[in-house]
Amino acid sequence: MESLIKQLTALYGPSGREHTVADTIESLVKGHVDSIRRDALGNLICEKKGTDPAGKRIMLAAHMDHIGLVVTHVEKEGYLRVSNVGGINMNNSRTRHVKFANGVEGVLNEQPLKPGETSSLRGYYIDIGADSEAEALAMVQVGDVAVYAEGAFKLGEHRMASPAMDDRAACALLVSILTKLPAIRHTVVAVFTTQEEVGLRGATVSAYSAEPDEGIALDVTLTGDTPENKLLAVDLGKGACIKIMDARSISNPDMVKALAAASEKAGVLTQREVLPYGGTDAGAMQMARGGMPVCTVSIPCRYVHSACEMVDLRDMDGAEKMVMGYLVG
Ligand code: CO
Ligand code: ZN
Repeated sequence: MESLIKQLTALYGPSGREHTVADTIESLVKGHVDSIRRDALGNLICEKKGTDPAGKRIMLAAHMDHIGLVVTHVEKEGYLRVSNVGGINMNNSRTRHVKFANGVEGVLNEQPLKPGETSSLRGYYIDIGADSEAEALAMVQVGDVAVYAEGAFKLGEHRMASPAMDDRAACALLVSILTKLPAIRHTVVAVFTTQEEVGLRGATVSAYSAEPDEGIALDVTLTGDTPENKLLAVDLGKGACIKIMDARSISNPDMVKALAAASEKAGVLTQREVLPYGGTDAGAMQMARGGMPVCTVSIPCRYVHSACEMVDLRDMDGAEKMVMGYLVG
């Protein structure tokens, strides 16, 4: 799992530009599923047929995209002005090492605030080492997207941090599940989705076309276990979360119960998660076609939407056992 996370978090893939991630995942799951296809939005849809024609179609969704910064214009001194692609957090963005698809690197920084001014992306710029607008435009174009530069590292025995842990950690989880899943009754439609960070767009269309009977989103969630932050009852290392609700979805109570039973049977810890904001692909799946029951299995993650998103490998192992147990039934 550790090397899979390293591999997947190193890939460039902001919202709308996920093809490199999709290519890698496709090569990893090939041979473990019955069919693989991509749709117009770039979703990677991997289907493993169930043994029972009366079995359910269960959609599992993990998003491939991560947050980024799009170049809006270039100043005459060569600095790039940017806007957000997804939820860039100002507090996590000063003097950040960033990288573009073509390998151009830069430092993201905020200009000094004037009295009474609050931080906003309008005050941020990327310094790519160019001295003029022309020099900068020879390196990047308006519309190019930078991401926090890759770099996964281990903390202690069980923890890892990197940018793009949201949601490549869950992509790694889903890849791992697909490579280990035995033949089961139900058909599993594993969708590596696109454009989640800009409004669950990939899940919206794939949940329609895949015609599942129910959906499980795999994503990270915030924790409440860091200093002066006790708002959420989620701790890193205390088990994967079964989401009860967030701002975009309310989990189906029967699925919550069945997932809890599966984790108990597997002997792994879980936490019940209530997130008063945010959303996952479950929000889109829930409202596809005539609607479907959904739930989210979340990986606790400190410092979500930063360059150092931190997960605990024990939680990921627990999430894998819970989901496998649920699918096998
Ligand atoms: Co996110
Ligand atoms: Zn996410």
